[in-house]
Amino acid sequence: MRAIRYSEYGPSSVLQLFDLPAPSPEDGKLLVKVDFAGINPIDWKVRSGGFRDFFPQTFPVIPLGEFSGTIIDTGGVPGFEPGEDVFGLAPRGAAAEQIVVDVIGIARRPENLTQTDAGGVALAALTAWQALFDFGGLVAGQKVLIHAAAGGVGSYAVQFAKWAGATVYATASEKNREYLKLLGADEVIDYHKVRFEDVVSDVDVVLSSVHGETEERSYGVLKPGGILVSVVGGGENVPEGVRFASLRMQPKEGQLAKIAGLIQEGHVRASTEVVLPLESIGEAQDRSETGRTRGKIIIRVER
Ligand SMILES: NC(=O)c1ccc[n+]([C@@H]2O[C@H](COP(=O)([O-])OP(=O)(O)OC[C@H]3O[C@@H](n4cnc5c(N)ncnc54)[C@H](OP(=O)(O)O)[C@@H]3O)[C@@H](O)[C@H]2O)c1
Repeated sequence: MRAIRYSEYGPSSVLQLFDLPAPSPEDGKLLVKVDFAGINPIDWKVRSGGFRDFFPQTFPVIPLGEFSGTIIDTGGVPGFEPGEDVFGLAPRGAAAEQIVVDVIGIARRPENLTQTDAGGVALAALTAWQALFDFGGLVAGQKVLIHAAAGGVGSYAVQFAKWAGATVYATASEKNREYLKLLGADEVIDYHKVRFEDVVSDVDVVLSSVHGETEERSYGVLKPGGILVSVVGGGENVPEGVRFASLRMQPKEGQLAKIAGLIQEGHVRASTEVVLPLESIGEAQDRSETGRTRGKIIIRVER
């Protein structure tokens, strides 16, 4: 099978295309033919070596953490059949034509979600879900401020928060205003021109994926007892009277199936910015590294 691997930390040129033996089926796990895979910032952060203290790698590494594809072998897992279309997390790397995955991070692909879009859902959507609900405790009638709202995580967070009945404030560049309005943002704040603290206050939950000053200023818009949930660490200077939580996404039983249900019912949709072939994975990661992605960058793994 074709697969991308790298054997040292470095720039995107360390990513190389190989012809490797396909993995064998394993009891209790699904063997899947991969059609598409999603790019996430963690891919280039790990590859560059910048995260070696948090996520030390054992080389060689097959990159990419989420996929869509078709079950080849169920590994004896009840409730799944060969030939079913699924999507989900790929802890061993999705940049390969066949992979073995844990059932906990997998869901059936809804009919209205294309195989292409499905490749980029799991990691970003689960992160947004866990940030808002598991850590933020967001409920109907509350106010939420979502930073980097047009990105992979933010695009899902805006839709989940709106579905939950919250009032949604979103920071983004002007070019993403209409996109975020369509996703359900009540107010889009162009962070290049407007200080968000001038237009939003008494917020229950802030979802922060921007380091430093943005995090520091965000505490000021929280109501007493409100919480800032960060997906990028931080939390060094949390003022009294508000709360901070740092999240590292972990697969949880039933969560991706719940998200698939919201997609099936039309409450949530996936947004793909561009689809690139497997051999252009370096270009895709470099593009992600610019920090300007709207929705998701997808890799076509199937030939
Ligand atoms: N802890 C975890 O488990 C976990 C899981 C997933 C992701 N993450 C992290 O979360 C972060 C976001 O991930 P992602 O996939 O959403 O990234 P992404 O798709 O690359 O985010 C791109 C977006 O960031 C926006 N942006 C950049 N700087 C901004 C700023 N100062 N204020 C507001 N928006 C800004 C851009 O918006 P404009 O173009 O509109 O300016 C762009 O739309 C990354 O650092 C990632 O590593 C953590």
